[in-house]
Amino acid sequence: MVNKKITISDLKEDDLSFLFDLWHTPEVMRYADEFPRYRGWSKSDDYQLAWKTYQTKRDRLGYDYTQLILWLDDLPIGESFFVILPENYTFGKWAKPNNTKSLMGDIKLLPEYWGRGLGSEGMCLVVRFFFTNTDCELLVVPPHRLNPAANRVYRKAGFVLFTGMRSWRNHKIMELTRGRYQELYE
Ligand SMILES: CC(C)(COP(=O)(O)OP(=O)(O)OC[C@H]1O[C@@H](n2cnc3c(N)ncnc32)[C@H](O)[C@@H]1OP(=O)(O)O)[C@@H](O)C(=O)NCCC(=O)NCCS
Repeated sequence: MVNKKITISDLKEDDLSFLFDLWHTPEVMRYADEFPRYRGWSKSDDYQLAWKTYQTKRDRLGYDYTQLILWLDDLPIGESFFVILPENYTFGKWAKPNNTKSLMGDIKLLPEYWGRGLGSEGMCLVVRFFFTNTDCELLVVPPHRLNPAANRVYRKAGFVLFTGMRSWRNHKIMELTRGRYQELYE
């Protein structure tokens, strides 16, 4: 990626049309279910409602509910969203550890940017963002079992496969603790 710089930014209202176009791209959404139905507005095409809902939740939860946009120089190329998990949250045989603040999320890029290392690079920025801006102890991602690119990107960013279940509704769980983040990133 000679001279091209990947960055992330907090969602702004102007980014919504990009975001909704991305979510309407079938290849992007092929393996992307919404766990745990967390955004609450991404299925609607009403930008104003989406923005209002986002801001309401954001005001309440701060960085524990964050929609990020990924950029390559000045072009939006993808998104990542993470949200705090409630106490007693389970995903198949995986259970959120008690009293451990945990955020779940994922990353998506437009297909024309796949396979160039941008997902891996972007995911590392996302990981750093959440461990820096929140006091979470654990990040969790649920890649589809048939999505090797996502599994690989998360592994390269430091996530470790939860081996306590094969998959649940075709999704696996991968985890990254703050301790491991500090070892790998600091
Ligand atoms: C997942 C996604 C973000 C990956 O982004 P990307 O920019 O293509 O990822 P990268 O180029 O950084 O790396 C992809 C890695 O997966 C590997 N990979 C890709 N397709 C693969 C396949 N079919 N089998 C095995 N490995 C594969 C690549 O070789 C690369 O690994 P390497 O760096 O060791 O060579 C992108 O494919 C995407 O947006 N998919 C649609 C949305 C989605 O499914 N998101 C995940 C939701 S959980």
